[in-house]
This record gives sequence, C-alpha cells and structure tokens, in this order.
Amino acid sequence: MIAEQRLEALREELSSSMSEKRFRHTVEVEKMVVRLGEIYAPDQIFTLRAAALLHDITKEYSPDRHLMIFAQKGLSLTREDLLAPKTFHARTAAALIAEQYPEFAEDAIISCVRWHTTGRRGMTLLEKLVYLADYIDLSRRFENCVKLRNFFFDAHPEAMNDTERLSHLRDTLILSYDMTISDLLSEGTPISPDTFEARNELVSERASASI
Ligand SMILES: [Fe+2]
Repeated sequence: MIAEQRLEALREELSSSMSEKRFRHTVEVEKMVVRLGEIYAPDQIFTLRAAALLHDITKEYSPDRHLMIFAQKGLSLTREDLLAPKTFHARTAAALIAEQYPEFAEDAIISCVRWHTTGRRGMTLLEKLVYLADYIDLSRRFENCVKLRNFFFDAHPEAMNDTERLSHLRDTLILSYDMTISDLLSEGTPISPDTFEARNELVSERASASI
C-alpha cells in the first residue's frame, strides 16, 4: 500500500475508535505537522503524519485502563507519575503501537508519540515538531495556544535560513515550556522532570548561542 493509502486507512480507523472531538483534534495535528514538516523536515512528512495520527490513541482511556496497560507492558510508574495522570496517554499510546498498529511500529514514530506531552532532554527534530503541532493545531483556542501559534508563524520561519529557523523553533519550544510550567504551577499539579529537563536544555542552548 502506498504511504497515502496507509495514512488514509489509519485515519479511517481512528475516526471510529475515538470521540469526534478527539478525532477532529487529531486530524488538525496531522495538518499542522505537515506545515511544520514542510519547513523543517520535508523528507520526513510520512513519519510526522503517522505520529500525529497516533499520538492520542489512548487519550480517552480511563486511569484504570492506563494502569492496566502499564502493568501488562511492564512499564514502571513513579509516585510523581501517579500524580500526573494526564501524561499517561503518551506512554500507553507509544507502548501499544507495535501491537495495535504494527505497520507503523517504527522507532521514529513511536518516540514522537512517547514524548509529545512532556518533551524530554535531547528531543529529536521530529519529536519537537509533533510536540509543537499538538500545542498549536488550529482546533486549539486557548489563549496560550493562540499566543504560541502567532509567535511561531508571525516570524515567518519559512523565509529564514537554516540557523535562524532552528533558533526560532528552539525559542518557540522554550516559550511553550514556560507557559506549560506556569500553568501547572497555578493549577498546583506536579510537573514532569522531563519537561524541566527539556526546557533547561533549550535555555542553555540559547545562552551559549548568544555568547
Ligand atoms: Fe493531542
């Protein structure tokens, strides 16, 4: 099956296995990751689209169902993990791809799904693009999402040279982490160490780039 048909079949299947709202968001993330991929990784569009389609496959599972998958797959859970159930779906989705969607079980796709919620230190370019697409897709109307989308596109990254373009992606991600961390602080919810590590790494990169 050619790439387009594989994605079409996956989209079709997802349309009946998730709520309409989740499906709409998923499709918008796919569209957004294409826009980002055309700017940053034009030869990786298939991987990006597949990851976008798969990123929220378990988002609507109950906490118990997530915990069952953690147990079945032998995934460890720390006390902090248990306090942040919103991050479960990235791990369970990544863990289920090989079994449920073996035709998409590629490391690059799975890692984009795995890290799309918290980020991590040493994110790959593709991981960053899926993470960002999930934050700024057009179905998102929250103030911070609109702010980040405008920050990213108003600077016209498509017209930048390679160095400027990557710096702009880095700065966009830093802003996203700053907003996420500040939201979580005001909600009083735990913050994943992966998110701090992702942010700190990018902030250090920015500092050394300006020296
Ligand atoms: Fe999402």
